[in-house]
Amino acid sequence: MHKMEKINRRTWSNPLDRRYYRKSKGYLNHGERTVFEAALERGGYGTTLDIGVGGGRTAALLVPVVRDYVGIDYTPEMTALARSNYPGFDFRTMDARDLSAFPDGHFDLVVFSYNGIDSVGPEGREAILREVSRVLKPTGAFAFSTFNRNWTGFVGSRAGAGVAWTPDPLRLAYRLVMHGLGRVRRRLYMPLEQREGEHAILLHPAHNFGIMVYTTTPSQLRAQLAAAGFAGDPDLYSDDGARLSSGTLAEVEQFHVLAFKQLPGWPRTSGSMPTA
Ligand SMILES: C[S@@+](CC[C@H](N)C(=O)[O-])C[C@H]1O[C@@H](n2cnc3c(N)ncnc32)[C@H](O)[C@@H]1O
Repeated sequence: MHKMEKINRRTWSNPLDRRYYRKSKGYLNHGERTVFEAALERGGYGTTLDIGVGGGRTAALLVPVVRDYVGIDYTPEMTALARSNYPGFDFRTMDARDLSAFPDGHFDLVVFSYNGIDSVGPEGREAILREVSRVLKPTGAFAFSTFNRNWTGFVGSRAGAGVAWTPDPLRLAYRLVMHGLGRVRRRLYMPLEQREGEHAILLHPAHNFGIMVYTTTPSQLRAQLAAAGFAGDPDLYSDDGARLSSGTLAEVEQFHVLAFKQLPGWPRTSGSMPTA
């Protein structure tokens, strides 16, 4: 297992870090909503696989509108949390690198929200993309988000936020502990960052510097998706739901991505190849 992944798994198994997922609800932002809605439309609100379901935020969005739903997460503490948040939904503990429980071409829609795909190393990412491509129907869509390698927030020492004052002594003590934990993690994990070569693995301020993420660029993303069997260029959106053009790419923290096995409108009975 890649070093970064050990760090991330330790964070997600930690009850203090998992608190955040206890009450998370709704869409994160317009970018996520735009991509989900387009993917649902494309997949005909059919069979849906929700990867890295965490506390079940996305299950609450998808279950009421799709025909068949299964949510998976490889952190057992997360599937337990999802089950207690949404009893009766189908949640399973499973690693996205091995989706052999599902046959080829089974799903209309696959989702991997909140940059979950960035928490594994390069080989893990390749395996996940290959497996997602395998289990998707040719007419299916894959909706996910991924960090932008060139986001300015990944530059420098990333000081992080200070401790917000509260008169509640317990809350204040909790915030001080988490702040201290963040300082320790930053000192330990910053030297593990990797910026050379094809991919960059960087420390993100989320979870008090408890997460190291695989970051990418649109051209790398296109190549990775193509290698896994996806067609054409993926559609990329910013957090505010705007379609991204190359001029704006440096500013955004992450891309909301919609990828297709087969380009929409293809195959055609007549006419020319669709443009990407
Ligand atoms: C940032 S959290 C997002 C949780 C949830 N999707 C949400 O948006 O609130 C990422 C989740 O992905 C899960 N995860 C990461 N890599 C995974 C993998 N290879 N297979 C299954 N789950 C994975 C983690 O355990 C974690 O719960």
